[in-house]
Amino acid sequence: MPATSSVPCQPLMTGATPPESGGTPVTGGAAAARELVVPEPSLVLLVGASGSGKSTFARARFKPTEVVSSDFCRALVADDEDDQMATADAFEVLRVIVGKRLAAGRLTVVDATNVRSDARRGLVALAREHDVPSVAIVLDAPAEVCLARNAARPERGISERVVREQLDQLHGERSALSGEGFAAVHTLVGVAEIDAATVQRASLPSDLRSQPGPFDVIGDVHGCAAELAALLGRLGYRLARDGAGRLIGARHPDRRVVFVGDLVDRGPDVPGVLGLVMGMVEAGDAWCVRGNHDNRLARALRGRDVRRSHGLAESLDQLAAEPAEFRARVERFLDGLVSHYVLDGGRLVVAHAGLIERYQGRASRRVQAFCMFGHTTGETDEYGLPVRYPWARDYRGPAMVLYGHTPVPTPEWVNNTLCLDTGCVFGGWLTALRYPERELVAVPAARVYYQSAKPFPANRLAEPVAVAAREPTAPSAAPPEPSRPAVESTNQEDKR
Ligand code: UTP
Ligand code: MG
Repeated sequence: MPATSSVPCQPLMTGATPPESGGTPVTGGAAAARELVVPEPSLVLLVGASGSGKSTFARARFKPTEVVSSDFCRALVADDEDDQMATADAFEVLRVIVGKRLAAGRLTVVDATNVRSDARRGLVALAREHDVPSVAIVLDAPAEVCLARNAARPERGISERVVREQLDQLHGERSALSGEGFAAVHTLVGVAEIDAATVQRASLPSDLRSQPGPFDVIGDVHGCAAELAALLGRLGYRLARDGAGRLIGARHPDRRVVFVGDLVDRGPDVPGVLGLVMGMVEAGDAWCVRGNHDNRLARALRGRDVRRSHGLAESLDQLAAEPAEFRARVERFLDGLVSHYVLDGGRLVVAHAGLIERYQGRASRRVQAFCMFGHTTGETDEYGLPVRYPWARDYRGPAMVLYGHTPVPTPEWVNNTLCLDTGCVFGGWLTALRYPERELVAVPAARVYYQSAKPFPANRLAEPVAVAAREPTAPSAAPPEPSRPAVESTNQEDKR
């Protein structure tokens, strides 16, 4: 079995390639011994004329149970894998098997000619229904090779005309492949390249199941750098500064941070937060998922037309005062953020706006949208904010889900889910949950930095005892201290 490695994440919402799908760009050419990266889970379509060597290729590179072949399904329904009259029934069976495997998150290879674009589209749509990426592996063997191989197995009864038609379809529609929603299209040209190619399995970027923790999961920071520094200090992290005194990292001997996203916008020191968090992520001291504000800033930095509303103007103005290299680093960092993480053997999920069970560990546009915005109903409330469907109320998954996005006066456990956004930038608190201890640690905002569209009960945690009493389901919720800790001056905006 080939080794598993992690695939670099893809930029969000760019081009035709579904992001975060673990894909690589459309590839082709004459280089020998190509290594084809295949995300796991994914749906792999082998594409090639009869005799191009698809079944042989699959046998050598995948487990027998991973490969679902149209010939085998024909045999299942008609006792004859060459019975073309059974093709419709065979594909019905194939789709059922593929669907069941993808629902279970299993890598699945479809061994069929797949030379027609409409046949491929149906399978790509099936993968999308199960929120897994699709990959095409095109076996472009020369016509004379396909014909000679079929001539050597006359019992298959595949005529020269059929093979030539398949090759015409393949070559005629090959340019369409890159626009059919595949995360990657690997094209192998010629027998030598097909023979030499190896498959490299890669876990999806969200897969951190091998990381057992312990973690400190931190809610929406929104540019509140001083509060973040204070919280990290409270959590036992040693802060590192550069020569100019700016925070560039924080390390704990045993623990790692997971940020729930929305590092930016609205707050007084977006560059300060980014410099610290980027340093931690780059040093392996933290992970950060993508918040909707991080995504908007990434788009704005990429030159996309984004309205400078909801605090984006503050981020852009503050970043404009930074050196170009810092902005470029921020752009790379934000582009690389992943929608969610599955950690600790699948026992912990961190996503900005939360995540329902069936989307955990999956990659698709709707998974990304849910992670950033939650389940919105399409309506808006009296403050003009989107009405959100309370997904946590129906959550029954075994994984604990930690998230932010919607400021709450107090974190409250709902079916093993907890929102950690306690509105720091609105004058609330910056909150962390110690995992697996399930202890809350929070620091208060030095002041109200931004007025919430919806009235937010700023400083409502002034009576922490009352807060603790309101958290009956958090077994060891540590309320914030009654008096405010010494928080560094947070009015960085004035200094800038
Ligand atoms: P395959 O049976 O692998 O081709 O090889 P295929 O693409 O899956 O064909 P269809 O679509 O099911 O009809 C076809 C023949 O060529 C031989 C195989 O042993 C088989 O008899 N072959 C294949 C080779 O001799 N060398 C190869 O590298 C590949
Ligand atoms: Mg075959």
